[in-house]
Amino acid sequence: MKKITKAVFPVAGMGSRFLPATKASPKEMMPVVDKPLIQYAVEEAVAAGITDMVFITGRNKRAIEDHFDTAYEVEAELSSRGKLDLLRVVQDVIPKHVNCIYIRQPEALGLGHAVLCAQPVVGSEPFAVILADDLINGESFVIKQMMEVYARHHCSILGVQDVPREQTRQYGIVSTTNLEPDVERVNGIVEKPMPMVAPSTLAVVGRYILTPRIFHHLARVKPGSGGEIQLTDGIAALMQEEELLAYRFKGTRYDCGSKLGYLQAQVAFGLMHPELRDEFAAYLATVK
Ligand code: UTP
Repeated sequence: MKKITKAVFPVAGMGSRFLPATKASPKEMMPVVDKPLIQYAVEEAVAAGITDMVFITGRNKRAIEDHFDTAYEVEAELSSRGKLDLLRVVQDVIPKHVNCIYIRQPEALGLGHAVLCAQPVVGSEPFAVILADDLINGESFVIKQMMEVYARHHCSILGVQDVPREQTRQYGIVSTTNLEPDVERVNGIVEKPMPMVAPSTLAVVGRYILTPRIFHHLARVKPGSGGEIQLTDGIAALMQEEELLAYRFKGTRYDCGSKLGYLQAQVAFGLMHPELRDEFAAYLATVK
């Protein structure tokens, strides 16, 4: 069994729901309390033992490369002022043994196309995909939970959760049969079905483990829902050839690609923040 050492972070989307905030800077650099979304995503991958971070970037994404690079001026300034705690915060953004690789997606042709752009680096290994705008607070990191399922089943796995039926139009929806606690065998997958025709309410959210065969299918997928190359369509083709599982992860997900989800994440993470939680909780208690 090949070990999973690479995670792909598609960060080339338009982020149009957050305009004008995303006019000149990437959605994935928006902070939740004091860390950008992409840093939470990378920390999740590092905790799962992943060593190669593959970012699929687009225009206006320079800030992400700078964030994970050495910031000489900032570090020199903090060091000369003796602000060593802050210096450590800046230097600890990413561990030294981790590699960051950047691939440009020339046009935002869809999530499936973004994942296909990772093929030259990922090659013939299984890999993880993490969408930074799905921020998940779990007992343990979700990609780590999914790697444990992968270690038993050696196949592609989708992170899923139940959503209200009226929201099926926002997700890829799977039909499944139960295999073991929290693990389902996927029989079908459709992108953004209307609530009345959705095969279930089990939605795919931003965590995937995929076998390299996905690239073969993504290269052949025609533009689907919204005129984009959909990852869901590539996965539907993969499912015809290989076993595909869905894992009901343990954790609370915040859809930080939407304004409401982003605000909810700020509140939840603010209430967990060691420096802020008491004062913030006291403040919230006064808010009507
Ligand atoms: P979204 O569907 O959230 O699209 O993409 P978006 O462009 O980021 O945001 P909105 O809908 O315009 O507000 C899901 C993920 O796929 C990436 C995005 O960066 C996000 O992490 N993506 C999407 C790409 O990398 N490339 C694409 O062509 C499309």
